[in-house]
Amino acid sequence: MRHLSFTTMAAVAVLVSAAAVVSAKQAWPPVIETSGLWSAYDSTLSKAKYIDLTHTIRPDMPIWRGFGNITFSPAINKDTGQAFAYATDGFVANAYKLTTDQMGTQLDAPAHFNAHYAATDEMPPTFALRKLCVIDVSAQAKKNSSYALTVEDVLGWEAENGRVPRGSVVFVRSDWSRTWPHVDTDVFPQVSLDAVQFLHLQRGILFHGHEPLDTDMTPNFDAEAWILGHGYAQAEGVTNLHLLPPKGCLLSTGFPKFKGGAGNYVRYVAVCPENWPHGVSPGQVPEAPMQYFEEALVWNAQKGYRSRS
Ligand SMILES: *[C@@H]1O[C@H](CO)[C@@H](O)[C@H](O)[C@H]1NC(C)=O
Ligand SMILES: *[C@@H]1O[C@H](CO)[C@@H](O)[C@H](O)[C@H]1NC(C)=O
Repeated sequence: MRHLSFTTMAAVAVLVSAAAVVSAKQAWPPVIETSGLWSAYDSTLSKAKYIDLTHTIRPDMPIWRGFGNITFSPAINKDTGQAFAYATDGFVANAYKLTTDQMGTQLDAPAHFNAHYAATDEMPPTFALRKLCVIDVSAQAKKNSSYALTVEDVLGWEAENGRVPRGSVVFVRSDWSRTWPHVDTDVFPQVSLDAVQFLHLQRGILFHGHEPLDTDMTPNFDAEAWILGHGYAQAEGVTNLHLLPPKGCLLSTGFPKFKGGAGNYVRYVAVCPENWPHGVSPGQVPEAPMQYFEEALVWNAQKGYRSRS
């Protein structure tokens, strides 16, 4: 399988950085062997299928009932009191009133529940690219809308796909997000405390993720409190998991760095094998320049955001 080449790639990367340290003492800029990563990109990532696992942040999306609605507005020029406009200023900008950093597709920082662990700006850059496992409990969730992922579900996945790799990300597919934004935020498929403890303590995963906006419906957020309270991160509000194979994809994670943030607004993108039927590859879509739309983007006061119609 293609993902085996990443083990080789990681080994090459280690050797490359060791070589860089040695040569850094002699010359600047150091001579770095770039062929490992760039050839891996050419042979694998450049042909891979990229699939967005992210909801668009918009004022009319579901949000946890404890937080107020968010609002968007045009950014105002403080000198004139007028909204910036293409005609008068050459550009537009937006202002967002966000009632929480816990909304949409997220990566919870442990500081969300524990003041002594990392906030969003303190999370390591190594989260950027990992192996992705997808455990499908959509059949169970269809029968029971509050079904909770069990250790047996994880072992069932392993019987078919091999051991969950150390340092990987595990997403739980429930199909809860398939009807987004028309979803039930009060009753939803859960992840049990036993299952997350097994994944972290027995398998050493980086983090797990789920489609609903919360991990569990227990009165004290048992699973979420254990995860974050012990310094682990977790993904919430992920979508499009029905487009992924159970193993073989990578997960790209990108998020802004708010000082002292308790949660991240995230763009998750699955990077899947070349022969996977879903997703797009670099060069298959307009990238540089990007897509041109005949219909202009305009501020829609009724909708409360900029749109093309
Ligand atoms: C919040 O947004 C929802 C969905 O758009 C809407 O139904 C609700 O009325 C809003 N609540 C308030 C207080 O504006
Ligand atoms: C649904 O799953 C939850 C979580 O495991 C459980 O507490 C509940 O009893 C189940 N409901 C039914 C009807 O099986």
